[in-house]
Amino acid sequence: AGSYLGIDIGGTKVALCRWRPQGRLQRLDEFPSAGPDETFENIGARLRGRLPRDLVAIGIACGGPLDAKRGLILSPPNLPGWDEVPITRLLTHLTGAPSFLVNDANANALAEWRFGAGRDCDSLIYLTAGTGMGAGIVLNGRLVTGANGNAGEVGHWRLAARGPEGYHKRGSFEGYCSGGALPELVQYLPTAERPADWRVWRQAHPTAKAIGRAADAGDATAQAVLRLSGEKLGAALALLIDALDPECIVAGNLYRRCRRWLEPAMRRVINAEALSPGAQTCSIRSARLGERIGDYGAICAALHGLGVLG
Ligand code: BGC
Ligand code: NA
Repeated sequence: AGSYLGIDIGGTKVALCRWRPQGRLQRLDEFPSAGPDETFENIGARLRGRLPRDLVAIGIACGGPLDAKRGLILSPPNLPGWDEVPITRLLTHLTGAPSFLVNDANANALAEWRFGAGRDCDSLIYLTAGTGMGAGIVLNGRLVTGANGNAGEVGHWRLAARGPEGYHKRGSFEGYCSGGALPELVQYLPTAERPADWRVWRQAHPTAKAIGRAADAGDATAQAVLRLSGEKLGAALALLIDALDPECIVAGNLYRRCRRWLEPAMRRVINAEALSPGAQTCSIRSARLGERIGDYGAICAALHGLGVLG
């Protein structure tokens, strides 16, 4: 019984939602991302005088790095102006309810496990593929947090010496496989596949969505970009499968949308590179919660903090 609030702090928007175990998940509000002061004003203004009386806890999901134990958002590259923000303390002060901070990918892993594509699995890995790339790892029914809640920062694995840049370094998994970085990939295609006017092509295809659409419409460059991304996705999945032996891997929105183009290259590389039988047995699925995953994730951060989920 009781209700829970979830706050999903992303690079483009901050979303606020409410959940009751018996009821539906309800989106309360949404603000464009801003610095911490303005964000707190927005949240405070929305909640003041309208706090659920039966509020049990608040969950906050946010990109890393963070200090989950102390409830600190450190300085995530996608949130300029946020630096050592004691988010749980501020929210508990505002509402009187216990507040918990969880990395967004970790929170989303809990969400797909409890409500989405991984309900039948005890060990699963969730991969975001939005603006950034991160993983959340649930092993044998427990979320792997590590010492400070930063376990799963695999988006910054370097997969190639040269290569596109994610938020942190060249040639990273995030640089090859996040939605945000996808348009950059055209530059790193093998010469035979790279159009001479690749700069023009890149301008005409500024988002992952545009690239997916072009691939579906038969654009060979878009298909090559997704093939390259699929290869690197396969390389990272091979490492994850060998390291953690998950029953299933749930991949976020980009994978759902572009699976047709990513999957053959991904499969080929997993089969070539993973040693473990998981290469054949691990089931690789599209995330099921779609655009709502951030809300579910934030609620799961509260449930996890209370010790009732993972
Ligand atoms: C961050 C991760 C985050 C991911 C998705 C990465 O750049 O390092 O903490 O989970 O983006 O938002
Ligand atoms: Na993570």
